[in-house]
Amino acid sequence: MLSLHSARARWMTGAFLLLALALTEGIYYRATTAADKEDQSLSVFMRKKLDASSKILEGITTEDSQLVVQGADALLAMSKTEIWNVLLDQDYRDFNTEFRGSVRKLRDAAEKGNFDNATLQWMDAVKSCVECHKYVRSQRPVVK
Ligand code: HEC
Repeated sequence: MLSLHSARARWMTGAFLLLALALTEGIYYRATTAADKEDQSLSVFMRKKLDASSKILEGITTEDSQLVVQGADALLAMSKTEIWNVLLDQDYRDFNTEFRGSVRKLRDAAEKGNFDNATLQWMDAVKSCVECHKYVRSQRPVVK
């Protein structure tokens, strides 16, 4: 009976190890895909700034106020969301405030049909894009 008992014990140990392995693999797999998904959705969200920027540039170059306003509104809406706030410190918030200020002035200029001023404000806004990215990169080495 002893040998049967130890064979059974060995089988149980083996089954337990397999189960533990399956569980940890499962958890690991889920954790990495969740992180990847998060990265992807942040990336997709952030890249929408390019669509809005393209709209604004088209609006400025063709003197189409509506396009500029639409692009500016999209940027203003995005910069108010939670996902935008990748960093939570005061400097990041200051960069965002500056950016939003330029975009608001751009929107006003376009609404008034003042495309010279809109061009200047857009240049300020683009500078804010670059400045904020520089800052984010200095805080997070993996940033693009
Ligand atoms: C207040 C800060 C801030 C401003 C202003 C800002 N960005 Fe970003 N941007 C970020 C952050 C944070 C990320 C995400 C970085 C990361 O991947 O961790 C990002 C990512 C991006 C990406 C890369 C997306 C990817 O993963 O492929 C692009 C493109 C981009 N921004 C364009 C712009 C443009 C264009 C503007 C201006 C119209 C702008 N951003 C203004 C903070 C900012």
